[in-house]
Amino acid sequence: MQTLDLNTAFTLIEPGPVVLISTNDGQRDNLMTVSWTMVLEFSGVFALCTGAWNHSFKALQATRECVIAIPTVDMIDQVVGIGMCSGADAGVDKFARFGLTRAPARHVQAPLVKQCLANIECRVTEFVAAQHIVVLQALVAYRDTARQETRTLHAVGDGSFVVDGHRFNRRAAMAGKLPPGE
Ligand SMILES: Cc1cc2nc3c(=O)[nH]c(=O)nc-3n(C[C@H](O)[C@H](O)[C@H](O)COP(=O)(O)O)c2cc1C
Repeated sequence: MQTLDLNTAFTLIEPGPVVLISTNDGQRDNLMTVSWTMVLEFSGVFALCTGAWNHSFKALQATRECVIAIPTVDMIDQVVGIGMCSGADAGVDKFARFGLTRAPARHVQAPLVKQCLANIECRVTEFVAAQHIVVLQALVAYRDTARQETRTLHAVGDGSFVVDGHRFNRRAAMAGKLPPGE
């Protein structure tokens, strides 16, 4: 084995799907791309890693709410494009620029993204400043059950992506650790 540059070690631990974070700062809707996410509880508690370097963070701080929208592989260029421009720039409406449709949320001002496989309305419960972690409590989640393409994107961190592949079923072996109703 060869020693790796520690700055590349995170790419060995592939995270969950790349998500879009939808916010509304009271005036405008915005979207950002986030690949650093984490599940904290079975009950819909999630964490994002983001901070003041993004325009979306200001909306997260001000409103303490957002929508996590889960795109699929056919949306890869929209996902990358959304993460490569800022809603802070004059005239940037990422929904219009990337051909995405808003759908009204029930509990938050930020819109759902209609083209996504799933959307989760969330409230911010905590900002962990030292690690730039935003903790979210899910309020309601939706899934487009009619969608043909369901494969999500996973960012390696070096500009390449992995797509969901074969699914292995070990549900019987894991039954004692799975939440009821799953
Ligand atoms: C594939 C991809 C993954 C990204 N993951 C993150 C992330 O985990 N956290 C973060 O703060 N920014 C991440 N970004 C960068 C933001 O999406 C980017 O800074 C965006 O311009 C922020 O938009 P805003 O300024 O309109 O909020 C990612 C970008 C791309 C393309």
